Amino acid sequence: MRSTRFRPIVLLVAILFVFGLTLTACQPAAVQEPEPTAEVVEPEVAEPEVTEEPEEAPALTGTVGVVLPTREEPRWIQDETRFRDRFEELGVEVEILFSQGDSSRELANVQDLITRGVEVIIITPHDATAAAAAAQAARDAGVKVISYDRLIRETDAVDYYVTFDSIAVGAAQAQYLVDNAEGTGNPLYLYAGAASDNNAFLFFEGAWNVLQPKIADGTFYIVNSSQAEALQDKAELTREEMAQILGQITTEWDFNTAKNLAESNLTAAGAEDKGDVFILAPNDGTARAIADAFGADADITNYVVSGQDAEVASVQYIIDGKQSMTVLKDVRTLVSDAIDAAVAFLNGETPSATTTYNNGVIDVPASPSEVITVDQDNVVEAIIDSGYWPADEFTGLE
Ligand code: BGC
Repeated sequence: MRSTRFRPIVLLVAILFVFGLTLTACQPAAVQEPEPTAEVVEPEVAEPEVTEEPEEAPALTGTVGVVLPTREEPRWIQDETRFRDRFEELGVEVEILFSQGDSSRELANVQDLITRGVEVIIITPHDATAAAAAAQAARDAGVKVISYDRLIRETDAVDYYVTFDSIAVGAAQAQYLVDNAEGTGNPLYLYAGAASDNNAFLFFEGAWNVLQPKIADGTFYIVNSSQAEALQDKAELTREEMAQILGQITTEWDFNTAKNLAESNLTAAGAEDKGDVFILAPNDGTARAIADAFGADADITNYVVSGQDAEVASVQYIIDGKQSMTVLKDVRTLVSDAIDAAVAFLNGETPSATTTYNNGVIDVPASPSEVITVDQDNVVEAIIDSGYWPADEFTGLE
């Protein structure tokens, strides 16, 4: 019944439609073409535009991925936590993967993020040079690469470098030793990070700039590195020369390696190399391990030891007088710098840069952040009052 009743209307519509088409077909082509295009495109573009605007913040969702080197060091757990806090504040989900000190896992992490459709990857390489393959994979997929804290080397597939001023970190560590040394002939023990980490070179370079003149003037003498001794008259070292020294004094950023090396250095050292000593330790984890080894040696009467990262355990060591100083690298700053850079890339812009770092192939733009020396004198102000760590993490605070 229904279909019969509506048949004339359907017919009429059909006739009008054909008539309309014929009329349209009769119009000049130049007029006809833009009209339907404009008619069809306008509403389609208008719709997503309206929905896109309120989605601008969530548009970051799933588009940024973070790859950190290892869960085995408190430093990177700090970064993870502070990344999560910041992304949560922004109402944005983020995928954070750990490479666990394994470059092939790092590559797999990057490939995983690419498959999930991220547009920017923030990555701290485990091994600077091995990570070039991961960076290249991202570049090939059109994904922007932000090198985070550590520089990826030997590739042009790095778009930006978010970092602290690592030369300044090494200089601050060394300056602390210099400021606490009196007279001449002070025994100096040198330790460094992993040679696979570009930062280990920057920290050492910064420290050498400060220590070398003080070795030359007799304030210190080097106890535990014949390579450093052989080069002690050179104010500036080449990367190869630094690599030779690092080969003797590396901790591989590993607490046990640091402890074993310190113990074997102490076993080899003579009584005259003990007493009051000065120790360049590259970061907090290794500083605690080295400090424990020196503290256990009955012939060490006093040691001054450096560190970096303001890890909770090392801040406690500083309060307790077991570690002399740390260099606070405010990870909150680094995290927000990285997110700002990612947002710039997502918006098709270029993050601002104040300098560049050569990675062996290109000069990577960067805007390094400042660092702060922390010891017993300013620990409350720099760590607690600044809100970096809550007071209840520590004992023995006044
Ligand atoms: C970082 C340090 C860290 C070290 C060991 C370096 O690249 O800059 O903050 O302590 O790696 O993970």
